[in-house]
Parts: sequence; structure tokens; C-alpha cells
Amino acid sequence: MKLKGKVALVTGGGTGMGRAICLKFASEGAGVAVNYSKSQKQAEEVAEAARQLGVPALAIKADVSQNQEARRLVDETVAKLGRLDILVNNAGWTRPVTHRELEGLTEEILERTWAVNVKGPLYCVRAAIPHMVKAGGGAIVNITSIAAFQGAGSSVIYCGSKAALGAITKSLARAFAKDNIRVNAIAPGFVDTHFVDWPPEVLEKNIKTSPMGRIPTVDDIANAALFLACEATGITAQTVFVDCGVTALQPVV
Ligand SMILES: NC(=O)c1ccc[n+]([C@@H]2O[C@H](COP(=O)([O-])OP(=O)(O)OC[C@H]3O[C@@H](n4cnc5c(N)ncnc54)[C@H](OP(=O)(O)O)[C@@H]3O)[C@@H](O)[C@H]2O)c1
Repeated sequence: MKLKGKVALVTGGGTGMGRAICLKFASEGAGVAVNYSKSQKQAEEVAEAARQLGVPALAIKADVSQNQEARRLVDETVAKLGRLDILVNNAGWTRPVTHRELEGLTEEILERTWAVNVKGPLYCVRAAIPHMVKAGGGAIVNITSIAAFQGAGSSVIYCGSKAALGAITKSLARAFAKDNIRVNAIAPGFVDTHFVDWPPEVLEKNIKTSPMGRIPTVDDIANAALFLACEATGITAQTVFVDCGVTALQPVV
């Protein structure tokens, strides 16, 4: 049990990668707070599945893009589960807008993308840090995207928001290194979740062009999150690409 006695908060933990991360952490003995904003049923099912694994777990509703809700989310996690050792900023939001269609970037899309993907993680980190300091250290894992590095992804602002979260990862890692708080990022490649619900041809294209001949699974992401949360003891300020080799190897033409 790699996380016995530890407590993790996973934002957007009811679905997709967040679900896999919650269950991976629970299977290693961590208590888990499963955050959701809309997916209540899914989050409660994840919390129940975690409890079946023998750890304390609960689902907590909070819109992480709202400072007071993010603060309450962290406070409730600590009040109900007793401490906070690991924060995974997994919640994300996007709307597909092709990159040349700049007029399609409405104020709502611009603001919401930035609020959920950039301000949300920062709000959660700000609330979590004092608890981690109290616990003698902690690990923060931010889910970014290869979109930040490729200039390709669901929208220009989505790519920008994930690049910003990558930069914030580094700043936070420097600021809190002396407090034994490690801050790292995972940049997933294309993963088959309901994040965008791309048409099947997009999925097929991603599989076909992947150096490994497949796309990463939610379990691949959860394995990397577990590594960064507890095994990567000397690692901070890094981005781990879980993209089946796409960013580093694709394509030589
Ligand atoms: N799928 C991909 O190809 C891909 C690639 C690279 C990076 N990513 C990133 O991976 C992360 C997880 O996405 P996923 O693929 O697993 O898709 P997903 O299942 O749609 O997960 C997104 C999660 O974010 C939560 N969320 C959205 N807005 C929120 C808010 N304001 N407050 C709290 N939670 C909120 C959603 O919860 P509710 O339903 O409750 O709102 C949902 O659980 C995201 O950060 C995404 O940007 C995805």
C-alpha cells in the first residue's frame, strides 16, 4: 500500500481520468475526496467504489472556478478526511473552436476556459498549501495537455490555458520546494473520454498516427499520477508526457 494513511483530493474525480486516479489512489490505501460540479451520480459511485476498497471517501460538489467554492472544497476534505497530502488538479473545461476561427472564441468560452483550467487549480492550491505544510509536505499534480506544446487542440484558448497551468506548475514548485511540497504536471495525449466527444474518425486518426499504435488510457494517466504523488520523491517542477510517444516521436516525414 503506497498511500496508506494519506488523503487525496481529485478535482473532476467523478469521470474519465479523475475517476481512474481516485480509484488508483484508493487501491493504494489513500482516502479520497471526489470533487464534481455536475456529475453527482458518477462522483458518488466513485466514492462508493473507493469505500469498497476499504478507504474513507466522499463526493464533494464544488465549482473549482469559484474561489470560495474551491476553498470550501479543500476545507471540507480536511474536515471530513482529517488531512490533505495530495491534490490532483484534474478538472478541465473546453469547447472545440478550430484555431483559424478566432471569432468563434466568445467571451464566455474565453472566460470559462481560463477560469476552470487556470484559476481553478490556483484556487485549490492556495487553499491546500497550509494543510500540506501542516502535514509536513505534499504532492500536487496538475493535468495539463500536449495541446500546450503542440499548438493543436480543442481551441487556441484551451492550448493557452494548459500552457499557463504548466508555467504555474513550475512557479509553485519553486515557491514551495522548501516546504517539501512537490508540484508536477501530467500532459496527456488524446484520451478516449467524454471530454470533447470527438467523432470516431478523430479517435482512429490518433491511434493510426501514434508511435505506440495506441492512445493512452485513463489507467496510463492514473499510473503516472500515482508515480508523481508518491514514488517520484526527488522530482518536482516536471511535466510527464503520457502520450504514447506522440510529442517526442511524431512524425518523421
Ligand atoms: N481527454 C483528452 O483527450 C485530454 C487530453 C489532454 C488533457 N485532458 C485533460 O484531462 C482532464 C480530465 O479530462 P477527461 O478527459 O478525463 O474528461 P472528463 O471526463 O470530461 O473530465 C473533466 C472533469 O472536469 C470536471 N469539471 C469541469 N468543470 C468543472 C468545474 N468548474 N468544477 C469542478 N469540476 C469541473 C468535470 O466534472 P463535472 O462533470 O462534474 O462538471 C469532469 O469530471 C482535463 O483537465 C482535460 O483538460 C484531456
